[in-house]
Amino acid sequence: MLAVIGGSGLSKLANLDVSHREVLRTPYGEPSGAVTFGQIRGCPVAFLARHGYGHTIPPHEVNYRANIWALSKRGAQAIVSVASVGCIRPDLKPGDVVIPHQIIDYTWGRKNTYFEGHDSGVVHIDFTDPYDAGLRARLIKAAGLAGVAVSEAAVYAVTQGPRLETAAEVNRYERDGADVVGMTGMPEAALARELGVPYAAINVVANYAAGRADSLNGIHFDKLEAVLAESMGRARAIIDSLVDCGDPAGS
Ligand code: HPA
Repeated sequence: MLAVIGGSGLSKLANLDVSHREVLRTPYGEPSGAVTFGQIRGCPVAFLARHGYGHTIPPHEVNYRANIWALSKRGAQAIVSVASVGCIRPDLKPGDVVIPHQIIDYTWGRKNTYFEGHDSGVVHIDFTDPYDAGLRARLIKAAGLAGVAVSEAAVYAVTQGPRLETAAEVNRYERDGADVVGMTGMPEAALARELGVPYAAINVVANYAAGRADSLNGIHFDKLEAVLAESMGRARAIIDSLVDCGDPAGS
């Protein structure tokens, strides 16, 4: 079964034929909300809204451990994250869709591992390539089949939030090699790797990052919302085309 975690602008999957919802409990507390189960083109898919269904959970308060644990234990063989980002790289613009290939983690204070030592032991996962290569390739292919143009690689800077960045911070992230900036990519990706679940992301560019282009003097939130509303359909189209019952990780 494929599982999708939706971020800002994607609190439900319009193309999901819903069968039921389940409230799941985990040793790490409660996920962001009930998990919605259903089918897309006859294939089973699970969906979870990262910020809760009423968008009440800020990025630093999301229970990433419970979310990934619940999806994994309920049978997710692959997890696709959908998240909005600001763009830094000059060829990107609001509305663009990006399949990131790397992460720089600037977050702090989040529960970022299932292995906290003592009874749960000490485990060092390999995270050289934070996203699953096979799932990334399938997302890129699915985008092509759906006729959605995507940027096939990007370095995603993950910030703590919930505030947006200063212009100087964005300049620093660019010097570090980041192409886009968001708040939820970590520890989600690392937790999926710890549980051995293939994980990849679709990032929708909602705005120019702080201090850039039309965000030179500030972020325009009304514009950002409008861009997300217009662009999330493309993320849905990629997921729709990704779903494949013949492939255990795609169904
Ligand atoms: N910065 C961080 N997170 C974001 C942004 C941004 O500019 N846009 C959407 N999510």
